[in-house]
Amino acid sequence: MIVYRTKNDLALHLDAIRDSGKSIGLVPTMGALHRGHTSLVEKAAGENEALVVSIFVNPTQFNDPVDLEKYPRTLDLDLEMLQSMNVDIVFVPSVKEMYPEEDNRTFDLGNLDKVLEGEQRTGHFNGVAQIVSKLFEAVKPTRAYFGQKDFQQLVIIRRLVKLLNLGLTIVACPIIREEDGLAMSSRNVRLSKEERNLAPFIHITLKLAREKSGTLSPAEIKSWVTSQFENQPLMNLEYFEIVEDKDLKPVAEWGDKVNIVFCIAVQFGEVRIIDNLIFD
Ligand code: PAJ
Repeated sequence: MIVYRTKNDLALHLDAIRDSGKSIGLVPTMGALHRGHTSLVEKAAGENEALVVSIFVNPTQFNDPVDLEKYPRTLDLDLEMLQSMNVDIVFVPSVKEMYPEEDNRTFDLGNLDKVLEGEQRTGHFNGVAQIVSKLFEAVKPTRAYFGQKDFQQLVIIRRLVKLLNLGLTIVACPIIREEDGLAMSSRNVRLSKEERNLAPFIHITLKLAREKSGTLSPAEIKSWVTSQFENQPLMNLEYFEIVEDKDLKPVAEWGDKVNIVFCIAVQFGEVRIIDNLIFD
């Protein structure tokens, strides 16, 4: 496994791979790796002749400086994990390497970055678009892998690829959960024991809401979910929205909508948890 710290060194290696006609998979991460990340790595390894995993805690996507400061950083463990998975290339740039100067680009993401997470975290998705576009430029991958855990991010990355006319394929990967249903996330380690024990309630509620969608309207489901969280003093429901998968537009009636996504964000002490459930 080779760990590159600069775009130049990485490019030299990747140019040779590309020249020999091989496909390159990219898995962008912010580290503190868990099975959610490794599921992306496994899929990418199986579908490409070369694989790059990037680890970079991107400051421009953090709207909360405390969150950035407290974001878990476990580089040695991450590298061990990737080594044991036979990953060939890891890209671990510094902030200076990725942002030699301030990035003032703003991306036209339509309405996609205004709703859901975007409403709560101003500028977050523009920061994601900044770093992901830089990673795409540095790696020029054949395919890039993103988790459905961050469903809105996935939709926005697809839009970014169209916007920038990039000839690469975005591969969506399913959410990996703990045994009790909590979606894996690097931030979960910051939950207290009590919070961690309560956290599966989020996924359980989404599943119950899905069952109820046979008999209740979207508005009724929304108020049912809201009422469930009123009985949970430790969890503050930030939003629960029912949207269409392609454009994140709110669903007012079931009608003939094909793919529906229940999106949820819960503030839990110091930690924000997001989750979703996709179904047709
Ligand atoms: P990070 O939160 O580290 O996640 C990296 C990738 O792993 C994302 O595509 C995310 O959706 C996926 N992922 C995280 N938890 C998952 C889970 N439980 N199941 C499936 N996939 C999961 O998302 C980011 O980093 C950043 O925004 C990034 C795209 C790297 C840009 O900085």
